[in-house]
Amino acid sequence: MPKQIKSLAVLGAGQMGGGIAQIAAQAGIDVTVYDTWAEGIDRCKALRAKLWSRAVEKGKMTQDDASTAGARIHYTQDLEAVAGADWVVEAVVEDMAVKADLFGRLAKMFTDDSVVLATNTSSISITEIATTAGAAAHRVVGMHFFNPVPVMKLVEVIKGLQTSDDVVARTFALAERLGKTPLKANDRAGFVSNRVLMPMINEAFYALMEGVAEPEAIDGIMMLGCAHPMGPLRLADFIGLDTCVNIMNVLADGLNNDRYRACPLLKQYVAAGRLGDKTKLGVYDYNK
Ligand SMILES: NC(=O)c1ccc[n+]([C@@H]2O[C@H](COP(=O)([O-])OP(=O)(O)OC[C@H]3O[C@@H](n4cnc5c(N)ncnc54)[C@H](O)[C@@H]3O)[C@@H](O)[C@H]2O)c1
Repeated sequence: MPKQIKSLAVLGAGQMGGGIAQIAAQAGIDVTVYDTWAEGIDRCKALRAKLWSRAVEKGKMTQDDASTAGARIHYTQDLEAVAGADWVVEAVVEDMAVKADLFGRLAKMFTDDSVVLATNTSSISITEIATTAGAAAHRVVGMHFFNPVPVMKLVEVIKGLQTSDDVVARTFALAERLGKTPLKANDRAGFVSNRVLMPMINEAFYALMEGVAEPEAIDGIMMLGCAHPMGPLRLADFIGLDTCVNIMNVLADGLNNDRYRACPLLKQYVAAGRLGDKTKLGVYDYNK
């Protein structure tokens, strides 16, 4: 009988790590957030405080609950300080070399076979990450949260080639305890979410490039006709056009198929530094 998860190590204090720490603390779990960047930790702390005080103001949370959740999160720049956690979720930068280094160290630190080493990667192969964990490979699983974590309901649970069925089942249980809906995918490039979403976004760029319609019409048709909350071009700006190109490259290389190559117009925007919301200019101009 696996033990109840009482403590969680979150590696990475960025957008995703901060959100995962927040929902875990709200669910009564003690969290230690590790990041190498002091300013990133300060920003993460400040954002949590702001979100909780807003929730209290809006009557969505009591001050007591917000203070209790806040007190459950501890921050550290020392990886050794997360030793002893019941579960690990890695959410550092999307860089295989960084993740490989971390999983190698985690495998040595967490020899207890009940500790799951989950990764929130959005595109790197779970099987490859698991390989870097050596004998702990069967305990490595994809636990793919969506942004913003406190709002989005889905956790895509990805089973690497080595991941045990028991670890998948326990990941489902933890996701549910965090108030999420887990759905399972196997480890193929893009999993399900990006495999289906990104080619649609890419196709919207082809439609734009070929003059099929204006951006507002492409987005409006998909919103009104397909009930999407946001059109594909607006969504691409939100995600970052550079990220979209990177994910298309992962699909094309990982699935060995040129039909996943990024649209020339999408690549052109990136070459021009029009990356979307983060540069205030992408398909749309946000300076206005
Ligand atoms: N942003 C999204 O929409 C989204 C959605 C799902 C999954 N993801 C995945 O989640 C992960 C994190 O993404 P993010 O958007 O939170 O990134 P981010 O840039 O906001 O945060 C990454 C954090 O990792 C830290 N970091 C870098 N190297 C480190 C190391 N060696 N040890 C510890 N910390 C280190 C950085 O200081 C930074 O604070 C990535 O794998 C990404 O693919 C992102």
